[in-house]
Amino acid sequence: MSLQNRDKKHLWHPLTQHKLHPNAIAITKAKGCILTDENGNDYIDAIASWYTCMYGHCHPYITNRVAAQMQQLDQVVFSGFTHEPAVKLSEALIKILPENQNKIFFSDNGSTAVEVGIKRALQYHFNRGEKRQVLIAFEDGFHGDTFGAMSVSGLSVYNGPFEDFFIEVKRIPTPNSKNHNSILQMLQNIVSVNKVAGFVYEPLVQGAAAMKMYDVNGLELILKFCKENNIITVADEVMTGFGKTGKYFASLHLRTKPDIMCLSKALTAGLLPMAVTTCAQKIYDAFYSDEIGKGLFHGHTYSANPLACTAALASVELLQHETIQNNIMQISKLHQDFNEYIKTHPKVKSTRQSGVIFALDMNMEMERYGNLRDRLFKFFMANGVFLRPLGNTIYIQPPYVITQKQLEKIYKTIEESFAII
Ligand SMILES: Cc1ncc(COP(=O)(O)O)c(C=O)c1O
Repeated sequence: MSLQNRDKKHLWHPLTQHKLHPNAIAITKAKGCILTDENGNDYIDAIASWYTCMYGHCHPYITNRVAAQMQQLDQVVFSGFTHEPAVKLSEALIKILPENQNKIFFSDNGSTAVEVGIKRALQYHFNRGEKRQVLIAFEDGFHGDTFGAMSVSGLSVYNGPFEDFFIEVKRIPTPNSKNHNSILQMLQNIVSVNKVAGFVYEPLVQGAAAMKMYDVNGLELILKFCKENNIITVADEVMTGFGKTGKYFASLHLRTKPDIMCLSKALTAGLLPMAVTTCAQKIYDAFYSDEIGKGLFHGHTYSANPLACTAALASVELLQHETIQNNIMQISKLHQDFNEYIKTHPKVKSTRQSGVIFALDMNMEMERYGNLRDRLFKFFMANGVFLRPLGNTIYIQPPYVITQKQLEKIYKTIEESFAII
């Protein structure tokens, strides 16, 4: 029996209504930018497996390092113990993070990284004797699937059964060149009647909102407002982190630095699950006390797993390598050329790009997970390209090691897909 059929017996997949989508494609191999299925079909991984495998799949620089670490130290409790992979990773991260970031806390995935960020923002005020229980977030943000992360996610299409249990969140629109004053007025109104603990945001690009990009100057004003009101700023860079927007982190495009940052996905280049929540010294200081209860009592069994830390350290080294940095520039340039070419196509409503992220909206309305989206997905796969359209948006976020030929195939397949819509 095929893997696809055996899968149906016991497996329950994420974000899947099994009655409508019973067939999972069985992938048996991944190398560089290519995924291979059980029937021997190849697909270019045009979204780097949800933006994780940015250096290509099974990169030997990473896999060899992890294989060696496996012989040395596999796992140890991270409360009361430490180890070289975690220490080295913290040193490497601090060198590339915005200059105010000084402490690194480990967890397992993007949602838990955000959960830690939210807890820190709430407890920061609590430890200082202030009861602040409200958060601010953007309307269309997405921050993950745990309760705190769901609460701040405005994109809550599937959160219905849980909404009654959420933290109180006030929403603001993402800034554009025309709404700065109205957003500042909204913020003023919010803080005049609420005790706001923190602001959680995806800087510059909202991934799950279909790679929605927004105005950097407006974000700068919002962050400044937060600083003036001692609202803890939590930058969710789970998607944007590690080079996607052209800089190591999207927050480096801004003058005002976040108090807290959440990172995962490309952190370990897709090899192992891990996340970190970093912060400025002032946050750490608010937890540093003779009173045990003022500490951050949050911890996962696999915190700072030595193998995941080793994968992350190798990835951070690759990110800084000249070849990868040149590739990022080259992909941005090719995206720009494709953008010029495709943006006037009658089936294209709008396009946008930031670093290696390119997105286009098709000239039509469609459901986020509707029928046309399924037909497009099938068309892309039949043509050897793995893309997952979001609503009426097709986006590309390829591994940094993608070749020009592979990228051109992705562009061509997207253009050809317009014939079926
Ligand atoms: C910006 C952002 N934050 C958080 C998450 C949640 O990460 P995870 O799926 O690893 O829990 C995602 C996932 O796509 C994300 O894009």
